[in-house]
Amino acid sequence: MTPLKVGIVGAGNISSIYCENLSKFPSIELVGISDIDSARAQAQADKYGIRAFDVDSMIEGSDVELILNITIPAAHGPVALRALQHGKHVYNEKPLAVTMDQARELNQVAAQKGLRVGCAPDTFLGGGHQKVRQLIEDGAIGVPVAVHGYMTSRGVETWHPNPEFFYKPGAGPMLDMGPYYLTAFVNMFGAISRLAAVTRTTFAERTITSEPFKGQIIKVETPTTFISSFQFESGVLGQLTTSFDTYAFAGQPNIVVYGTEGSMIVPDPNSFCGWNPETERIRIKKGDTETEIQVTDEPFKNNSRGLGILDMAHAIHEGLAHRASGELAFHVLDAMLSSITSSDESRFVQLETQPAQPTLIGSEEFSAERGLLG
Ligand SMILES: NC(=O)c1ccc[n+]([C@@H]2O[C@H](COP(=O)([O-])OP(=O)(O)OC[C@H]3O[C@@H](n4cnc5c(N)ncnc54)[C@H](O)[C@@H]3O)[C@@H](O)[C@H]2O)c1
Repeated sequence: MTPLKVGIVGAGNISSIYCENLSKFPSIELVGISDIDSARAQAQADKYGIRAFDVDSMIEGSDVELILNITIPAAHGPVALRALQHGKHVYNEKPLAVTMDQARELNQVAAQKGLRVGCAPDTFLGGGHQKVRQLIEDGAIGVPVAVHGYMTSRGVETWHPNPEFFYKPGAGPMLDMGPYYLTAFVNMFGAISRLAAVTRTTFAERTITSEPFKGQIIKVETPTTFISSFQFESGVLGQLTTSFDTYAFAGQPNIVVYGTEGSMIVPDPNSFCGWNPETERIRIKKGDTETEIQVTDEPFKNNSRGLGILDMAHAIHEGLAHRASGELAFHVLDAMLSSITSSDESRFVQLETQPAQPTLIGSEEFSAERGLLG
């Protein structure tokens, strides 16, 4: 197949891994990179041997077919909408947008124009969570009953070079990290039907300790601890804690799945198969017996950010549905924003979005002909 021409908007912290991976994937041609800060775009272009564009000429004038939008959350919706209006497919970093109206408009405009919307995270397409999904479908823990997710951290101002946006509307622990967990939940169990949540903002201000903004104060404008309870369409129950206020224990499980015949600890959903696929194990407990499963056969176990775009390139070529889709990300946004509504209004919220559960990646898709592996 002719490689899909991809252009990146946003040359910040996360752009390096995308540049690296998209330069390697066989069905993608990484054309160039742009940013409102042209020096950043130029630096990444020089590093990865691609072209630096200004944002307008990439979106409006280039022969790029898909815009990878890795700007800050507040710009996800507006940049993606412009790309669609100029006839380009888009793939956004998470969250898809910061309001339901923006996200709805993206999917509607794309449908009208025959274009595609994709969105991170694509970690659920990695070897770890594909194996977990297969185990659940094979009945390894019986019928799923419940799932618990824990994303607890003391915040990002200690390490991220530009941490301010994490404490503004559109981010916080839920909109920033929730997508990994909620997308993994929907991959395992299908859509969420309703939820109830409580939230709090523990610290009104944050002091940056990372460079280059060390010592600057961030005014916190989003809740920083959430506890959300979910009911899935399938009947499974779920709970997710996301926090930038609290310390995690080393070894604390990220997600535990409970079934009628056993329980399972699954890989961190912010990874493609844990942080070290060699030592990572899926743990299953049945009665008093615990077994550990190493993921061996599934590909994409290392940091494969961009895999969702690779899947999109093939889906566009073959006229199939892509998995890290705008509908899935719209549902995840619905669950995240509804958690804020539920807490603010002290009520259950029925979700308005109902995406299909993404299909497992079939082994034939890894064949040389289908080309996901090249
Ligand atoms: N850094 C990570 O570890 C990480 C991991 C996963 C996902 N993400 C997501 O990726 C996105 C980017 O994160 P980051 O850490 O690279 O942030 P960053 O602040 O380092 O970079 C964002 C870049 O976008 C540019 N930008 C902002 N608005 C723009 C606009 N309207 N048009 C063009 N360029 C614009 C900025 O100039 C900046 O260079 C965020 O949505 C974040 O949630 C980041």
